[in-house]
Amino acid sequence: MTADQVTPEPLRSTSSIGTSLLRRDGVEKVTGDATYAVEHPVTGPAGEPPLHAWLVTSTVARGRVVAVDATAALAHAGVVSVVDHTSAPRLADTSDRELAILQDDAIAFRGQIVAIVLAETSESAREGAALVHVEQEAEPHAAAFQEDSPTYAPESVNGGSETDTLDGDPDEALARALVTVDATYTTPHEHNNPMEPHAATALWDGERLTLHDSTQGPRPVRGTLAPMLGLAEEQVRVLAPYVGGGFGSKGLPHAPEMAVALAAMTVPGQPVRLAVTRQQMFALTGYRTPTRSHVRLGAHPDGRLEALRHDAVTQSSRVKEFAEQAAVPARVMYAAPHRATTHRVAELDVPVPSWMRAPGEMPGMYAQEVAVDELALHAGLDPVALRVRNEPDVDPDTGNPWGNRRLVECLRRGAERFGWADRPTGARATVDGEWWVGTGVAASTYPMLWMPGNIARVRSLDGGRYAVAIAATDIGTGARTVLTQIAADALGCPPEAIDLDMADSDLPFGSVAGGSSGTTSWGTAIVAAAQQFRADHGEHPDPGVETTAASGQYADMDGHALHSFGAVFCEARVHRYTGEVRVPRLLGVYSVGRVVNPRTARSQLLGGLVMGLSAALHEEGWRDPRTGHTVTQDLATYHVAAHADVRDIDAEWLDDIDELSTPMGSRGIGEIGIVGTAAAVANATYHATGVRVRDLPLTADHFLE
Ligand code: MOS
Repeated sequence: MTADQVTPEPLRSTSSIGTSLLRRDGVEKVTGDATYAVEHPVTGPAGEPPLHAWLVTSTVARGRVVAVDATAALAHAGVVSVVDHTSAPRLADTSDRELAILQDDAIAFRGQIVAIVLAETSESAREGAALVHVEQEAEPHAAAFQEDSPTYAPESVNGGSETDTLDGDPDEALARALVTVDATYTTPHEHNNPMEPHAATALWDGERLTLHDSTQGPRPVRGTLAPMLGLAEEQVRVLAPYVGGGFGSKGLPHAPEMAVALAAMTVPGQPVRLAVTRQQMFALTGYRTPTRSHVRLGAHPDGRLEALRHDAVTQSSRVKEFAEQAAVPARVMYAAPHRATTHRVAELDVPVPSWMRAPGEMPGMYAQEVAVDELALHAGLDPVALRVRNEPDVDPDTGNPWGNRRLVECLRRGAERFGWADRPTGARATVDGEWWVGTGVAASTYPMLWMPGNIARVRSLDGGRYAVAIAATDIGTGARTVLTQIAADALGCPPEAIDLDMADSDLPFGSVAGGSSGTTSWGTAIVAAAQQFRADHGEHPDPGVETTAASGQYADMDGHALHSFGAVFCEARVHRYTGEVRVPRLLGVYSVGRVVNPRTARSQLLGGLVMGLSAALHEEGWRDPRTGHTVTQDLATYHVAAHADVRDIDAEWLDDIDELSTPMGSRGIGEIGIVGTAAAVANATYHATGVRVRDLPLTADHFLE
C-alpha cells in the first residue's frame, strides 16, 4: 500500500487525551472473551480441527544431528507426523540462523529445535515428542560467559548505536582525578516471562499462510517470515488481537513462529497450534544477556565529573549476533569533558540473546547509577546533590540542546515526597529490630524513539463515527485505548465514536510495539491521517470516504536530544541474621512528556518498577557450562517478583508537554520504569548495611558476615 507522506501539526485542542479512559478491551479480557493465539477457533476449509505441534529440542550445546528416529513416536496414538531437518520444507533464505530451523543438521545451542511432532491432541503431541529419539554428535562447546571469554567489537550495537565513543583523554584525566570510582558491575542472565507464553496457530491453504500469533509486531513478523518462506508479503497474514505480554521477547520473530509456519506447510488445509512451554521459553524466545560493566569515574573534590569510562562486555551467540547497548546511557547522563564508552561481545554456543525491557539502559544504568552512588560517598556529597552538580547543559553525546530534560526536577520532587532530607548520611545508621534500614536513589533515562513507515487509514461511518486502522498491536500496555483517544482528539469526536481496527498485518503498516515507540509512532501516524482526512473531506464528511496517510517525521530528532528521565527512590530493609532483603517503599518520579492516559501510564510505570525490583532481588538465570542448559527454566527456580515482594510502590510524573517529540506532546513510557530501579535498591541496601553489592541480584548471601 502506498500513501502520501503527511507530517502532522501539534494537537492543539484535546479532550480525551489526558483522561483515564477505561481499557477498550478490559471487559473481553476479564470475562475470558479475548481469544489469545492458540484460542482462536481456527478450522480448515472442510472443518478440519487443528493439529497440535510439540517441539523436540537438542540436548547438546554444539554439534550435529546424526539421525532422528521417529518410529516410536509415530506408533503412539494420535501422532500424525514428525518433521525434522530431512523432511521440513526448504526455506528460500537461510541467512538468519536463528530462524532457519530444520534446514540442516547443525546444532548451535542446547534447546534448539531439531524436530516437530504433529498430533491430534496436545497430550499426544507431547508424549510423541518424548518418544522421538534424536541421535546427536557433540562437539566441544563454550557456553560460560567468563572474564577470559574471547570478545570482539561488533559493527554497531542494538538500536544501531555506535560501538565505541571517545571524547578527550579519559584515561589521562582518570589518572589525575582526586576522587575516583573504578569498579566492575555485573548483571545475570534474565528471562522474559510474560503471562502468555509464546504461541501461534497457523493455517496454510496452499496459497496463503495465516498466523494467529502472540507477537509485538504483526507486520514485522510478516516482513521477516514471508521472504524466508519464499512467499510474497501479501501471502502471509499475521493477527495478534490479544497478546498476554511480551516485554521484548515477542518483539522480534523467534524460532517457534518459523516452526509453526513450516509445520503448517506440511499439512495444507489443516491448522496447526503451537504453544511453547514455559521451560522452552528459556532457550527459544530470547533473554537478556549477562553483562559486565567496568565503570571508571574521575571527579574534582566538589563532585564535578572530569572523566567517565564505561566499558561493557556482553554475551552473544554463535548462531546470531546480538550486542546489548549497555554503555549507551553513559553517553547522555552526565557532563564530563573526558569520556569513553565501549562494547565488546563474547560469542558463545548459547541461545540468541534478545530484547528484554530496556535492553542496554537497564543493565547499563544499574552499573552507572551504583557507581555514581559510590562516587557520592567518596566525595562526601549527597547522591541527589552529586547528580544535580553533574547536569549537562547540552547532550554530551551529540552536543544538541535538550528537548525536555527535567531530571533535576524529578530528583527534587522525589526527594521531597520520599522524605529524603531526613536521611542519615552514613551507612548502617538505622536498625529496626532485626532489620537494617536504608534508603537509596538512582536516576533513570530512556530515549524517545520514533519508528518511520507507519501508515494509518481513517474512514467516515454513519452517525458521525470513524473507522481508524493501523496494523499496530496492544500487548497489554493499553495501546488500543490510547490510540482511540488520540484518534478521537485528532478527529474532534468522542472516543466512543472511534472504531479502531488493529493487530492485523493486512491493515496499513504498523511498526513493532518495542523501544517504547508504539504510542509515539502509531499515534503520530493516526494524527497525520486524521488531519489529512479533515483536509480532504472537511468537518462533515459523507459516510464512506477515507484517507490513508503515511507518517512523516514529526520528532525533531536531529535538532534536539529527545530523552525521558526519572528518579527512583527506595527504602530497603536487610535482615541482620539472614541477609534477606525487603523493599517496603519504592517511588519513581518521571518526566515522559504528556501522559495520554494516566490509568494505563501508571500501570506501565508501576510494571517497570516491579520488573526492576524483581531484577534487583530475584532474577538470575543459571546456565550449566558443562551442558549449555539453563537449569533455572521455571518460575520456581527463576523467581519473578510476586505480590508478596511488592509493598508501597508508586509512580508519578511531572506535568509535561513535549511538542518536539510528537503531535500529542507525549513520549514513550513502556520501559523507563525498569531503568535505574535495581540501582536504587542496591544503593538502599548499601545505606542499610554498608555492604556494596555490584553483582545483581541482591541475594541474601551478599549481606552475611
Ligand atoms: Mo521492548 S524490550 O523494546 O520490546
